[in-house]
Amino acid sequence: MEEHTFSHYSVMKREAVNALNIRPEGIYVDCTAGGGGHSLEIVRRLGDGGRIVCIDRDDDALVACQKRLEGYEGKFKTVKSNFSDVGEVLKCLNIGSIDGALLDLGVSSYQLDTPERGFSYMSDAPLDMRMDRSQKFTAYDLVNRYDENELKRVLYCWGEERFAPQIARAIVKKRKEKPIDGTLELSELIKNALPPKARVGGHHPAKKSFQAIRIEVNRELDVIEPTLRTLAGLLNRGGRLAVITFHSLEDRITKQTFMSLASGCTCPPDFPVCVCGKKPLVRQIDKGTTPTPEELEENPRSRSARLRSVEKI
Ligand SMILES: C[S@@+](CC[C@H](N)C(=O)[O-])C[C@H]1O[C@@H](n2cnc3c(N)ncnc32)[C@H](O)[C@@H]1O
Repeated sequence: MEEHTFSHYSVMKREAVNALNIRPEGIYVDCTAGGGGHSLEIVRRLGDGGRIVCIDRDDDALVACQKRLEGYEGKFKTVKSNFSDVGEVLKCLNIGSIDGALLDLGVSSYQLDTPERGFSYMSDAPLDMRMDRSQKFTAYDLVNRYDENELKRVLYCWGEERFAPQIARAIVKKRKEKPIDGTLELSELIKNALPPKARVGGHHPAKKSFQAIRIEVNRELDVIEPTLRTLAGLLNRGGRLAVITFHSLEDRITKQTFMSLASGCTCPPDFPVCVCGKKPLVRQIDKGTTPTPEELEENPRSRSARLRSVEKI
């Protein structure tokens, strides 16, 4: 198999790490370590006693992160896990509370640009799209086994693809002849399922469908809210939680979770006294900060990025 070096431009690196307001002796978690770009920036700001736990569910990412942080041994620990299990990960490391956590959501450029990972509609590869390659369920299973209604749901809900019915129908029709097993085969089929006008201009015709399939294969969205709530609970007072999102679905979940964590009493306004007892857990810091024009110029892939952060009260 061809070797690929781990190449990934860390989006809003300075802004995200500044948002964490690093305490040199603090304990931090990078929940999406990737190639370790953000982790390195954090570890550089740590002093004696400061530590960072670097989590990713992709083995390649952890190897790259480990390499990137060479020279900082004793200050970092890489852990293979879904970030939804961050509570258990920290418990195993005897860490009861933290001073900050970062989530840089979605896929890395390395994952997208390594053809055999099967994330890209630009190069031919088996339909895979798993971030964690020990997981059984792949994009092949989804495309060849989901019924037409399930396919439609995935394409509508996770890709906001208005031509979901046409694409789902075309997939089901095609796989009656033979299984659909390649990324280019699928992207061509999607293109041909769209009305001619929708095939020209704008994004690649398969972009939204590939995003949708990737989100479903990796169950990307289900874990965001519970993880943010767990992390908010684990933060020490003054600790920060920062999230970089790349599309409206991720951003909406993050925004709503932060708003809920930052809000107090939810009793109806005509109640004479509060009976819910809900107190704000955090205050909001960044509410959708976007990359600088310089960063957009250097890395056009960051154009949809938004940074949100909160501080534990
Ligand atoms: C955008 S990249 C992070 C890049 C990293 N911040 C850097 O600077 O190199 C997202 C990473 O998060 C990982 N990831 C996504 N969802 C995850 C989850 N639920 N649990 C653990 N890792 C996840 C992916 O495998 C990918 O490596």
